[in-house]
Amino acid sequence: MSWIAKEIKTVIASAPGKIILSGEHAVVYEKPAILAALNRRLSVSLNPASATEVVISENPELAKFALNFGLKALGEPQEKLKLEIFSTISVGCGMGSSAALAAAITAALFKYLNRPFGKKKVNEIAHEIERKQHGNPSGGDNTVSFYGGFLWYRKETEFLKIFKTLRFRSAKLPRFVLINTGRPLETTGEMVADVRKLYDQNKSQTEKILERTEKVTKKVLLALMAFNQKQLIEAIKENEKLLEELGVVSPLAEEIVKEIEKAGGAAKISGAGGKRKGSGILLSFHREKEILWEIAKKRNLDAFEVKLGKEGVKIERS
Ligand code: MEV
Repeated sequence: MSWIAKEIKTVIASAPGKIILSGEHAVVYEKPAILAALNRRLSVSLNPASATEVVISENPELAKFALNFGLKALGEPQEKLKLEIFSTISVGCGMGSSAALAAAITAALFKYLNRPFGKKKVNEIAHEIERKQHGNPSGGDNTVSFYGGFLWYRKETEFLKIFKTLRFRSAKLPRFVLINTGRPLETTGEMVADVRKLYDQNKSQTEKILERTEKVTKKVLLALMAFNQKQLIEAIKENEKLLEELGVVSPLAEEIVKEIEKAGGAAKISGAGGKRKGSGILLSFHREKEILWEIAKKRNLDAFEVKLGKEGVKIERS
């Protein structure tokens, strides 16, 4: 790139966090998942620099890796950039912060380097970055962060990933509250590997759990299409039980889920979960939201309402 372009260029791109309404972990085994983009976003800004510099409070190694990987994938490994990141997505809690980082950095690099913005290609590079971070991710997290909205997502094989945007009038959907049970001690990659171990040790039993999860994910879809709140809540409860059977919900998170259910609500972990301490966020619902605030407050946990189905990657400035 010429020095003139370098002198004047600032590119800003943003990408949303995500929740999984149903099907995490099962989606790694060619089962479907329903994901939604959140109203919490991560923004990256790229500026020319004399040496690579990454400004972010959490996980700078991942940001640096994503930047270098993206530059290499685009054939510009020597490019020196200042990368600044601002985010309202909690890190390491199942809200898709690393997927949003991968999606936003990749999109910003395409713009910065004036490359044709083919969505499939940009998303593929974001998936590669996620793969380096999480081992063998399904690609669902980066895809929903990239495309936004609600997605029905299924990885058939490594080279065939099918997804469809689901259209709902979000005003008719229940208002969910995310309760953060704490950042898991385990990484997403470790949790995915843990389920793989269970699968390898007891294939028929685990396959049954995954098949039941697929049925529940279809129930979630039908409930969302019909705006049937009662059915949606029942399906979310069922999904949580199956995740508990997979061993990805910690005793602490299970206890909070039980308390919410006892009070007449429903909750499930969303994302990879965690075994020993926190399990990340709980996607929670109760007709009286105050009850959820109280449950969270009693335990000193962060809780906040979220809106689903938000916009995917956006170039904010170029
Ligand atoms: C993590 O947000 C979701 C998992 O299903 C992993 C993946 O889809 O790659 C646990």
